[in-house]
Amino acid sequence: MKTIIIFESLHGSTEKCANKLMELINDDITIVRLQENENVSIDDYDKVIIGGSIHMGVIQNRIEDFIKKNHNQLAEKKLGMYLCCMEEGETAQIQFNKAYPEELRKKALATGIFGGEFNLKKMNFFEKRFTRKATGIRSSVSKINEEEIRKFALRMREGIS
Ligand SMILES: Cc1cc2nc3c(=O)[nH]c(=O)nc-3n(C[C@H](O)[C@H](O)[C@H](O)COP(=O)(O)O)c2cc1C
Repeated sequence: MKTIIIFESLHGSTEKCANKLMELINDDITIVRLQENENVSIDDYDKVIIGGSIHMGVIQNRIEDFIKKNHNQLAEKKLGMYLCCMEEGETAQIQFNKAYPEELRKKALATGIFGGEFNLKKMNFFEKRFTRKATGIRSSVSKINEEEIRKFALRMREGIS
């Protein structure tokens, strides 16, 4: 079975998760960053994984546009969708539900909220100011949930929903 992971990432967390999934799923896998190929075709793949991250409450436009353009085809695939964000619990779930359409969420083989990182070194002046004001943090924070990534990979690998 062929798998493709399609992601977008501002400072690298979603990309890290994509690489981790590739390692764990251990299939014939292609990874594509939408910024580098917005018109990527999913024709040749049985399994499709989409990963994005949340900034100011929303997922990247490129992910949204890709899903809109490929919605019907995605609904026919063995689909996985994950999100990187720093909110947890109900707020994270609300962000996830807003980011990915209900029909695809219901059909998906795997969905996952993988946590995220605040990497101050990679932020520009405005991002740093926003993050410091919103969270009070003074140094970088990482809370990527490896266990969630493992569970997601297992569901995608075994094809169980
Ligand atoms: C400017 C900025 C705004 C953010 N806004 C949110 C937010 O609204 N909700 C949230 O859960 N996380 C928010 N985050 C945290 C990101 O989702 C987190 O940094 C994630 O790891 C980013 O992944 P990426 O580097 O792959 O884009 C924000 C981060 C930054 C830098």
